Amino acid sequence: MTVSDRRTFLKRTAGTAAAVAAAPALAVAAGPTPVRFAVSLATLSERARSADALDEEFWEMVRRQFPLSEGLILMNAANLCPSPFPVQETVFRLTRDVDRDASFQNRSKFGQLREASREALARYLGASADEIAITRNTSESNNTVLNGLSLGAGDEIVIWDQNHPTNSLAWDVRAERWGFTVKRVSTPRIPTTSSELVDVFGGAMTDRTRVLAFSHVSNVSGVRLPARDLCRMASDRDVLTLVDGAQTFGSIRVDLHRMGCDFYTGSAHKWLVGPKEAGVLYVRESRIPEMWASVVGVGYDGGSESGARKLDNLGQRDDAAVAAVETAVRFHEAIGPDLIAGRVLALADGLKSAVRERIPETTFHTSDVPGMSHGVVVVVLPVESHGEIYQRLYTEHRIAGAPRGGEYPGIRFCPHLYNMMTEVERVADVLAEEVARA
Ligand SMILES: Cc1ncc(COP(=O)(O)O)c(C=O)c1O
Repeated sequence: MTVSDRRTFLKRTAGTAAAVAAAPALAVAAGPTPVRFAVSLATLSERARSADALDEEFWEMVRRQFPLSEGLILMNAANLCPSPFPVQETVFRLTRDVDRDASFQNRSKFGQLREASREALARYLGASADEIAITRNTSESNNTVLNGLSLGAGDEIVIWDQNHPTNSLAWDVRAERWGFTVKRVSTPRIPTTSSELVDVFGGAMTDRTRVLAFSHVSNVSGVRLPARDLCRMASDRDVLTLVDGAQTFGSIRVDLHRMGCDFYTGSAHKWLVGPKEAGVLYVRESRIPEMWASVVGVGYDGGSESGARKLDNLGQRDDAAVAAVETAVRFHEAIGPDLIAGRVLALADGLKSAVRERIPETTFHTSDVPGMSHGVVVVVLPVESHGEIYQRLYTEHRIAGAPRGGEYPGIRFCPHLYNMMTEVERVADVLAEEVARA
């Protein structure tokens, strides 16, 4: 979003912003579930048809589905998201149901509910239900892939040096045991073209490379990789691809068959605003037979009939959470994945331009080039250390971001569909105050 877009938007929404400020109890409700604020998914869906990414009145309606603590500006979607009322209600209702009657008979319904979640995930991700395993989170999904492949001495794995530990350190641990080699690739700090990114990964691959594993969007810099181009390049060389979608599952419309990856992983409790401790693992149909299950449990059949289900025999599960994945997908579908993706991008771009406007010396680890980033924004303020500012944002201003250190120091902000543009402006104002104070 350019500065002039933001000004247009601010003018257009001045009335809504004032109404939100004047009625904080409507916008944010703490304490016991105030169900009166929830609207049906049908109503949300109807209203979404005429909404766009900058329609604050509509996004205010969306926000009211999230009973956030009063006054809190939550911008930490890359880590953990709140769930809206419909998802909470599914989790609470089914949890109470199991606690009232934990018999096999009463719980027999969960088999069907789990399959409904699997089908919803398949629909949402452009895959077939047999290609979907329901795991506990991205960490487990990534590890299920790297533990499930047959790799050994002489094989080589190429990974992005910005991968999450579950797709980086986890490879090193396996390499130590099985004798393969892990090669890390660095990309330009601020990439400008897709081909320059594809070229650096391509240049690192040899005829011994078996897997290319990368985050779709980096949780450390916010840079977005061209997943489809990378997958095509890898598949042309018979190299498997693992796309860690922790930062895109729920924030970007993803069509896995179109992307052409072999594996895609994600957590329902991040951008999908789904139940806690539920995750997804997609395995391309043709790859299922070669995958070994890390956990062999009741119902394991080697995959002959069960497809990717052979990878989610994890013993007794939190059935309520697994069932609520379907509700989370329906919540996204009611609003529309493209509209949500547009909103996330508008908030992230709005934040970058608002911070730049107030503190021109600010830099970002996150690219500004269209298509090269999405909802993860890492701000580098012109200060010696970010630690105290990050803490004060929460303790004094009730703004929740994430601290970043190491090679990518700064503060990470990940706004999502429950954030308002007025909050983006507020974060920028507070950062400017903090820089002036430092
Ligand atoms: C890219 C990436 N992969 C994996 C994970 C792990 O997610 P979870 O803790 O839900 O397993 C994260 C968490 O932030 C992440 O950013």
